[in-house]
Amino acid sequence: MNGAEFRRFGHELIDWIADYFDNIDDLPVLAAIEPGNLKAQLPSTPPENGEPMEQIVADLDRLIVPALTHWSHPSFFAYFATSTSGPGILGELLTAAFDNKAMLWRTSPASTELEEVTLDWLRQMMGLDRGMIGIIYDTASVSSMHAIAAAREGVEKRVREDGMSGRPDLPLLRVYASEQAHSSIEKAVIALGLGQRGLRKIPTDREFRMDARALEAAIEEDMRAGYLPFCIVATVGTTSTSSIDPVPEIIPIGEKHAMWLHVDAAYAGSAAIVPEFRSILEGCERADSLVTNPHKWLFTPFDLSVLYCRHMDLLKRAFSLVPEYLRTPEQEKVRSGSDYGIQLGRRFRALKLWMVMRYFGHEGLAARIREHCRLASLFASWVGESADWELMAPHPLALVCFRARPSSTSPVSEKDLDALNEAIMHGVNLTGRALLSHTRLNDKLTLRLSIGNIRTTEEHVRQVWDLLNEQLRRRQ
Ligand SMILES: Cc1ncc(COP(=O)(O)O)c(C=O)c1O
Repeated sequence: MNGAEFRRFGHELIDWIADYFDNIDDLPVLAAIEPGNLKAQLPSTPPENGEPMEQIVADLDRLIVPALTHWSHPSFFAYFATSTSGPGILGELLTAAFDNKAMLWRTSPASTELEEVTLDWLRQMMGLDRGMIGIIYDTASVSSMHAIAAAREGVEKRVREDGMSGRPDLPLLRVYASEQAHSSIEKAVIALGLGQRGLRKIPTDREFRMDARALEAAIEEDMRAGYLPFCIVATVGTTSTSSIDPVPEIIPIGEKHAMWLHVDAAYAGSAAIVPEFRSILEGCERADSLVTNPHKWLFTPFDLSVLYCRHMDLLKRAFSLVPEYLRTPEQEKVRSGSDYGIQLGRRFRALKLWMVMRYFGHEGLAARIREHCRLASLFASWVGESADWELMAPHPLALVCFRARPSSTSPVSEKDLDALNEAIMHGVNLTGRALLSHTRLNDKLTLRLSIGNIRTTEEHVRQVWDLLNEQLRRRQ
């Protein structure tokens, strides 16, 4: 593609993206297609010869857009609602243009140094102390896996050198996380060869927060059994309810047993940039590591996850391996990203975060997160005031867990309420005008409304409330 052609289609595509955002309200949030629909419309063999760009771009509208679930839609309230932003998209475009593989300082000094500076800015915005050094991975799942690997390196059991299998000298190494912790923690434990038995799930209290006393008892019981408890994962902002584990109570338990404390703040970490929410990270000044995802709630396009770690030496010891062809004269003086993880080549992700942070500024980012929390509180107040709906969990940030419980009908079984709520959710989702997701709390099907999209306004929230009530009325 020559310069003239690139310019032409580049401009056209930027216009296309601007139109996409201008008209996104009119698109169905959930892809309105059946499984296999897109595949059936695509040739099963690769193109023999090049095709005109016009045709490829036309297929975006014809084939790709109808098969998209629009995460950028302002009425996307499912899972954790997230969104990209203009400066983030432009940063991503530049990353593709530079195509740097930031494995060593010299293969991308810009990526290496911008990452260090940008993550230090974010650390300051979140009110974390200077001891926390940041590194970028793709997702929180990967960040947490690296944190647990560093924690394991810290137990001095020569796992790096000798592995874990066929070793009668090695006790069961255990990680502790609440029953509400994200499944990525269990996956990390599996991937690291610790086995699912290597994770003990701790019960939670009535507000879905880890029960610190149960944690302590579990660790002590495991020690009596000859196991080696080495890592606690506390969650600040759990996936189902956004509950916040009591880190200040968990800290002394970990410290007593010289355990690593990793904090999964993948979702909620961003909220700490808002001064009035900073207390959600109380106690984290004594945590060993913490993950937060700017791709969740900092308007940065997927993917960009940040691991803050107090022991970069252990992370490096777990992963650094420098063959001759990667040795450089400056290696002792600089940081090379590939020393801190499983990947060699690393994308230049810091660029988009840097652009987002500069474009909005701390104030601008905080204002948007604050507004999301206000909208969630407003929605929760409607639920709370209605005789037909009930709140199912506290809503410390911008996620509301609720369900329909109609007052007009005679008492119904929990099974019927589950079915009613599932039907309401699918009913709303099928309208294409909003998207919700669900979870189970205390064995009750619970609807979740998550607000995190930069374009979501009070009107969108009112609209989903109307849609929910309309679906309820239809079923009464
Ligand atoms: C608390 C928490 N941790 C981890 C993750 C996993 O995030 P990622 O998709 O970045 O791996 C999620 C995803 O929603 C989450 O809510």
